[in-house]
Amino acid sequence: MTTPRRQTVGRTTVLPRGAVAAAVPVALAALFAAAGPAAAGTIGSSGAGDPYFPLAGNGGYDVRHYDLTLGYDPGSRHLDGRAVLRARAAQRLTRFDLDLKGLKVTGVTVDHIKASFRHQGQELVITPRHALRSGQDFRVAVDYQGTPKPVTDPDGALDGWIPTDDGAFVASEPQGAMTWFPANSHPKDKASYDITITVPQGRTAVSNGVLVDQRTAHGRTTFHWRQSEPMAAYLATATVGTFKVERYTTRDGVDVYNAVDPRLASASAPVLKQLPSVLAWESKLFGPYPFRAAGAIVDRAPNVGYALETQSRPVYDRAPRLSILVHESAHQWFGDSVTLTRWQDIWLNEGFATYAEWLYAEQHGGKTSQQAFDAFYARPASDGLWAYPPADPGSGARLFGTPVYVRGAMALHKLRTAVGDAAFFRILHTWTADHRGGHGTTARFVQLSERLSGRDLGALFRTWTATAGKPSAP
Ligand code: ARG
Ligand code: ZN
Repeated sequence: MTTPRRQTVGRTTVLPRGAVAAAVPVALAALFAAAGPAAAGTIGSSGAGDPYFPLAGNGGYDVRHYDLTLGYDPGSRHLDGRAVLRARAAQRLTRFDLDLKGLKVTGVTVDHIKASFRHQGQELVITPRHALRSGQDFRVAVDYQGTPKPVTDPDGALDGWIPTDDGAFVASEPQGAMTWFPANSHPKDKASYDITITVPQGRTAVSNGVLVDQRTAHGRTTFHWRQSEPMAAYLATATVGTFKVERYTTRDGVDVYNAVDPRLASASAPVLKQLPSVLAWESKLFGPYPFRAAGAIVDRAPNVGYALETQSRPVYDRAPRLSILVHESAHQWFGDSVTLTRWQDIWLNEGFATYAEWLYAEQHGGKTSQQAFDAFYARPASDGLWAYPPADPGSGARLFGTPVYVRGAMALHKLRTAVGDAAFFRILHTWTADHRGGHGTTARFVQLSERLSGRDLGALFRTWTATAGKPSAP
């Protein structure tokens, strides 16, 4: 889906000067164009240009819609997949990449015509029979299968398709989408999704958005989910297990679908019961809830160690505490609806979701956010909290570290106390409204804060988000 503020896509392959002289006859030029590296400027790049994950995403096109049809057998752990992508070329393309890791591709077509492909590492390199014109809408279909395996992130966490004792826990931040479907796997490129999953009867397959159809035949059940609001690939899920399902519609008309591992049902019930009130409370603070569906997937995934804000319906690796539910729910505004443009800006997700926890505690009889701030500020300069600045973590290994979550939240608390509650919440509302379904950057957030407060906030943001070490004054 075209994003309002796209960065450059498609780094061009630069030819040695004069490699194709202007005088070369047209036929010969065409020959060069078909011959890989010589086709300057017509090859989609193998990455979206993110320094933390150079191969994540691809250049040269923009995906509008993913239609994924999956079959999973928890017993054999075999996945059958067909992905149909509708995309638009951002440049002339003789070749382009998708991200896919570890599965076997059995066929690719572009606009229904067989395309040649090569699969190397996480890059599925596709050469359509006919070059795509800049601006052309096209359809790619990829058939694939195999045993999906999670990736290990630079921080050591498992990410992607993670088998469990009764199915799979599917959480893909930052790079696991490629372990289960071919994608332009960078948050810059958001798209709508149809995700259809067939599993043995008795198991449930839960994804994002609204359940549009469910049917059982020959001992297998097919679940068809539709995520119509734009979504980044890392927020897609197709979690499979034995689940107890609960469905209802909130007073605001949001469709709730909760899927809970029966072993965790009693432990999670009191917290899940709060979901509508948490969403209503957050809507007051952040603006209207951005999706038509909501819910929770509570799974038993002891080797995961985190929950993820999968769009509209977070996945929890255990029965969540209320603060975690508040956190993942806040991500629906900060991260899911307003999405980062480069992984370096991760504090726009985690700092905000953490600050939502502080605000929730403050307004529900817990400690105030000032008390939370003070307790963290009391930590010595040698503490890991001050190891690096939240808006400049420095590498993919540090995306989910304490400075991003806690010092990010501290930065927002500093902003709030500097501009006052009225301006602060106006900033949050405007942020979620202006970038709804799109993207944000740290620079834009600073600009917005300055515009709405009428203050120069350069020093505040520099000190709290961009400077290494413990700030000298609280
Ligand atoms: N975004 C998740 C959260 O809400 C954490 C994801 C952690 N992923 C990882 N690869 N360490 O906190
Ligand atoms: Zn988070």
